[in-house]
Amino acid sequence: MHTVSRNSIQQRSLISQMFIICLHLMQRLLVAKFFVGFFMGIIFTVIVYNLKEPIEKPRFRPDQSKFEYEKNQQTFDDSNPSKPSIWNSSWDGFKNENKFPRHFYLIRHGQYFDNARTMEEMKLTLLGKEQLEYTGKRLNQTKTHFNRLIHSGMVRAFESAVIINQQLDSKLELIEDKSLSEGLPVAPIPYAGISQRDIDTYGDRARIDGAFAKYFHRARSDQNKETHDIIVFHANILRYFICKIMQFPVEAWLRITLNHGSITQITILSDGGIVLKTIGDSGFIPANKVTF
Ligand SMILES: *[C@@H]1O[C@H](CO)[C@@H](O)[C@H](O)[C@H]1NC(C)=O
Ligand SMILES: *[C@@H]1O[C@H](CO)[C@@H](O)[C@H](O)[C@H]1NC(C)=O
Repeated sequence: MHTVSRNSIQQRSLISQMFIICLHLMQRLLVAKFFVGFFMGIIFTVIVYNLKEPIEKPRFRPDQSKFEYEKNQQTFDDSNPSKPSIWNSSWDGFKNENKFPRHFYLIRHGQYFDNARTMEEMKLTLLGKEQLEYTGKRLNQTKTHFNRLIHSGMVRAFESAVIINQQLDSKLELIEDKSLSEGLPVAPIPYAGISQRDIDTYGDRARIDGAFAKYFHRARSDQNKETHDIIVFHANILRYFICKIMQFPVEAWLRITLNHGSITQITILSDGGIVLKTIGDSGFIPANKVTF
């Protein structure tokens, strides 16, 4: 009896000792696990953080569109020689001279007194001025460093440019260009109230084409940076410019409508590729203040 009971005491203490050792081991394991988990967490966070794209990174990647552009370029030339080419890559008469894109923010002037008797009286209405405030605010919000603010020779374009400048953080010198004034480029197809006879009498395509060539071309060798130009002018020639730069039939110009104060954004890549980003965007003007 005596020995048995001593044995059982010994056994019990052995079991409890083993239990305590186990507890210690588990505790150490848990501590080790905690640290392993902790460091894994840090590593994971670092990896995830680095996988995420930086927020300020520009969304537009010219290289991608350039790739698509080059891919298309290779096939269409020899695909069917009898078919006219759908893209003339030397449309501006230039070759790839440097790497800088040219960005354009083409603005239609605001609502104006279109029934006024003289050109000088064709000023912006109160609503027209308000529309251009929205346009200017929108341009300022993009935090773009604009290089030039150009306007046509007409009073409504000048007034619009002044209001845009008021909204910009860094003020620009206003540049007047009379070749950007409103006009009639070609007779629209389908017929929409402007006939070939009107064009023969009032049309001034040569002047309008001259204005186009002056601004729309890829970066030349003397351009040493990316440029952002605001041009404030008129719906007819702006619509004609859109068709022309896209190499669409220019007679289609009157199928497009542009709201007052709207922004049409076009980028010309250094290889002559075109990116039309918006046509007549006026989403920043409250709906009850939109006119065309
Ligand atoms: C491409 O456009 C340029 C400039 O307008 C012109 O001189 C040239 O003949 C055109 N090329 C083709 C293949 O149409
Ligand atoms: C232009 O936008 C900035 C914010 O990006 C603002 O702080 C500034 O006041 C704006 N400038 C004008 C002239 O309203």
